[in-house]
Amino acid sequence: MDTIGNNVILTLTGASHGKSVGCELCGLPAGIKLDMEAIRFELARRSAANCPFATPRHEPDEPLILSGIREGATDGEPVIVEFANHAHDRSEYSCVARPSHADYCAYIRSEGKEDISGGGKYSGRMTLPLTFAGAVCRQILKGRGIEVFSHVLAIGEVQDERFDPMMEKAPETDPFFPLVDPNRRAAMEKLLLDTRAAGDTLSCEAEVAALGLPVGLGEPLFDGIEGAVSKYLFMIPGLRGVEFGERRPFGSGMNDQFTEGGRTLTNRSNGVNGGMANGMPLIFRAWFRPVPSISKPQTGFDLNEKKPVPLTISGRHDTCILPRGLAAVEAAACIALLDLLMEYDKRDGSFCHREGLGALRRELDSIDGRIMRLYKERMEVSKRIGAYKRENGMEIFDPGREQEVIESRAALLPKELRRGGEGLMRSLIEASKSVQRGEFNIYLTGMPDCGKTRMGKKLAALLEMPLADTDRIIMEREGRSVDAIFREDGEEYFRCAETELIRLIAARGGLIVATGGGLPMRPENARMMKTSGFTVFLDRKLSALHDQNTRNRPLLAAATAEEVNANVDRLYRERRERYLACADLVIDPDEEGAAERIAEAYRKLIAY
Ligand SMILES: Cc1cc2nc3c(=O)[nH]c(=O)nc-3n(C[C@H](O)[C@H](O)[C@H](O)COP(=O)(O)O)c2cc1C
Repeated sequence: MDTIGNNVILTLTGASHGKSVGCELCGLPAGIKLDMEAIRFELARRSAANCPFATPRHEPDEPLILSGIREGATDGEPVIVEFANHAHDRSEYSCVARPSHADYCAYIRSEGKEDISGGGKYSGRMTLPLTFAGAVCRQILKGRGIEVFSHVLAIGEVQDERFDPMMEKAPETDPFFPLVDPNRRAAMEKLLLDTRAAGDTLSCEAEVAALGLPVGLGEPLFDGIEGAVSKYLFMIPGLRGVEFGERRPFGSGMNDQFTEGGRTLTNRSNGVNGGMANGMPLIFRAWFRPVPSISKPQTGFDLNEKKPVPLTISGRHDTCILPRGLAAVEAAACIALLDLLMEYDKRDGSFCHREGLGALRRELDSIDGRIMRLYKERMEVSKRIGAYKRENGMEIFDPGREQEVIESRAALLPKELRRGGEGLMRSLIEASKSVQRGEFNIYLTGMPDCGKTRMGKKLAALLEMPLADTDRIIMEREGRSVDAIFREDGEEYFRCAETELIRLIAARGGLIVATGGGLPMRPENARMMKTSGFTVFLDRKLSALHDQNTRNRPLLAAATAEEVNANVDRLYRERRERYLACADLVIDPDEEGAAERIAEAYRKLIAY
């Protein structure tokens, strides 16, 4: 999933070596003033340009705001931002999976279709739009008195001191290399430089704190603070562990005893009990693996040759994910906490409810936004189901299953909402069916020289759909004429090529297909046509067929015109029944307005 959130909904887009990376942040109220300088500052903290141990890939990281922010404030539309990728190198490692990177898994998962160059969407670069989104959320949290900050707790074996768990305000630190004890920096930097010189990389740990969270923030059971925050954090590549609370062996040493005002004398729970904020500082630690790109010789996996190959990764990588990764860790925490805060605000008597109708409408807007995104997702899945069914010659529509789906979905609702739920499901199913019908092909069948290609061209212009001519495609693929294929490899070979092609055409959908005259004779071809489109038999009069120059057709060729016509008659008698059985519409192509009638019938079918 590239999307997350219940209230403020974040989608990340793009990939490391694609044109750009970006984010879409929905559900933010309108009118929130944003300090763009503060946002740029967060981007700068993440930028490799400001970190001597980071990758030499330097990008300007200039946000291009496409929507949602006008005159320095949110306008209620989704905040959409893009960052162009300038310094990418697509040749970099693109066909060899690097050890312990996501390359191999992503390649297998996408059957080689995903752009994995430079780590694709599993790259640290995706933390750039995350940091932008986090910087926006951070400002909203700040307006509610919530502050999120962090420090480098460890680089390799060199440790910083931990945060004071009882702290009332954030310690003063260098934002580009924050440490509780700045004296540890020299040892960390020396380790970073030595490790880099040795061609190796380092693990690291961040400690993050949030102050000012209202007591009770966090949803029961599955959306408690630990789970909710961790889900965002684990998007950050290289993250391997998140820990809330101190590790102590005995309950007596772990428990935090209460004092005045519900506060506790210690904060070993690190600010969270039962998944909810307890009013003390929320603190967690995030541990990162050593960066997997090392400069030492390794063994990669050649994805084309499917075998292990020696691999040396040169130059462009970070020695350690921190300190620059801190901006991303804080960003993930800010987005997660704002999402939880908006949920918390929905409680009766809360800040949000006191705001009245405006707040309720915003809540409704946010729900509708989610419904629309889910609707889009559902339609995309419907399209894929349609393509699968067409490719496999399965019936597109299954009324039995439709009813079952409607009933089973409505059963998820309380009794009083079921009728509405059934209506909604009916509309959704209709919309899905219409999407699937929109992908229907129009198959033109009929005798050789009945004018399938000519009619195909007319329909292509009328309906603005592309035309596929099966004979022509096979000739292009084979680099020889149909006649030559028949002569050199026989009819069966040609028929197999047709079946293979019609399978592709059926899966592709949305085409006008001029079929070879014999194509519908094979039952499996006819079945695929039936389930993937609308078939028109161009039943041209025999007298008109006789006038054609059909001497070059392999099944009709003969010495004289009379013999050719006799062959035409024979073939027509043999095939007509099959053409009729396949057809949804039978039409004489020489009839006035034939193309318009076919287009009309097709439009009716897909409009349903
Ligand atoms: C800000 C940031 C920068 C990163 N830079 C690099 C890098 O330069 N080279 C590298 O191999 N991995 C880098 N990583 C980590 C890898 O992307 C990550 O380890 C890899 O995608 C595998 O994912 P996993 O470790 O979560 O399994 C970086 C991660 C972050 C958050």
